[in-house]
Amino acid sequence: MSSDRAASGARFAGKTVVVTGAASGIGRATALAFAGEGAVVYAADIDADGLAATVAASNGEIRTQISDVTNTEDIRALMDRAAAETGGIDVVFNNAGAGGDRAPIDEIEPAGWDRTMDLLLRSVAFGIRYAVPHMKGRESTRTGGAAIINTSSVAAVGPGYSPSAYAVAKGGVLHLTKIAAADLARYGIRVAAVQPGFINTNIFTRALEITGDAETMAKAAIAQMSQMAQPVARGGQPEDIAQAVLYLASEAAGFVTGTSLIVDGGLTIGPRDSWDPNSPGLLESLEQFAAQPAG
Ligand SMILES: NC(=O)c1ccc[n+]([C@@H]2O[C@H](COP(=O)([O-])OP(=O)(O)OC[C@H]3O[C@@H](n4cnc5c(N)ncnc54)[C@H](O)[C@@H]3O)[C@@H](O)[C@H]2O)c1
Repeated sequence: MSSDRAASGARFAGKTVVVTGAASGIGRATALAFAGEGAVVYAADIDADGLAATVAASNGEIRTQISDVTNTEDIRALMDRAAAETGGIDVVFNNAGAGGDRAPIDEIEPAGWDRTMDLLLRSVAFGIRYAVPHMKGRESTRTGGAAIINTSSVAAVGPGYSPSAYAVAKGGVLHLTKIAAADLARYGIRVAAVQPGFINTNIFTRALEITGDAETMAKAAIAQMSQMAQPVARGGQPEDIAQAVLYLASEAAGFVTGTSLIVDGGLTIGPRDSWDPNSPGLLESLEQFAAQPAG
């Protein structure tokens, strides 16, 4: 870290950060957090209004780009622009996403499968592919601050958290993260993933295509459900994930690569009865069953 940067006290002063899916939810919160700590942020999304709202919420430097992560030329143009305007890229957060095809594995059609993989997995591969040439040789590659962070999910832990195609794609993101970390270590670029739990964003109403008055009601219900879904007794917020991403991207995480940070308020600790005293466990349920009168 140069003395100028150290003097500024901001962890990302002088750094160029690219964030995809920055018009809403986790991406917006992370773009705001990086900009708030001094980075020049390239905020990319397909939602122009949402990007404008992200910029309006920031006191820092956020430059927007309409970019569809399912289009590799859009990804390339995004990375090339960030590098051309600032001299290179220090951090990339491959985060854009949506619920994907909701069909179970025995009903899904090829087009829905491909669309989901393109959006959630291929996008991350090419976010890495087109950023890396602009990340080599930066000061951050020597100080530990060159990093690529990918958004996976608790859906990668096992079944039950999401539709099938989404879960497989997010599992792929974890494996891609490890492979890329090994390939890119020689350049001083670290690669890590974040696995959000139940985070209160627009992703659920969008996935279920709930709009109008129903959307307001659904969002209130989701906010309430999110408070009770996990051991930590409050709803997960986009800022919870943003703080994890900033840590992984920072020089403090200089010895962290190829790994993933679960940020889920304990959602994946185990079956509900392992942490909820009001939830009957398997043993208790069996005892109740055994105590029932026969017949
Ligand atoms: N919210 C959760 O509970 C949760 C849990 C685990 C993982 N995630 C993941 O977090 C990431 C962010 O989701 P979120 O919860 O903030 O949802 P969100 O809907 O609030 O934000 C997602 C953003 O991605 C953008 N996007 C969608 N398709 C795009 C495309 N083709 N190109 C560019 N941008 C596109 C959307 O316009 C939106 O701004 C996603 O990868 C999601 O799978 C979310």
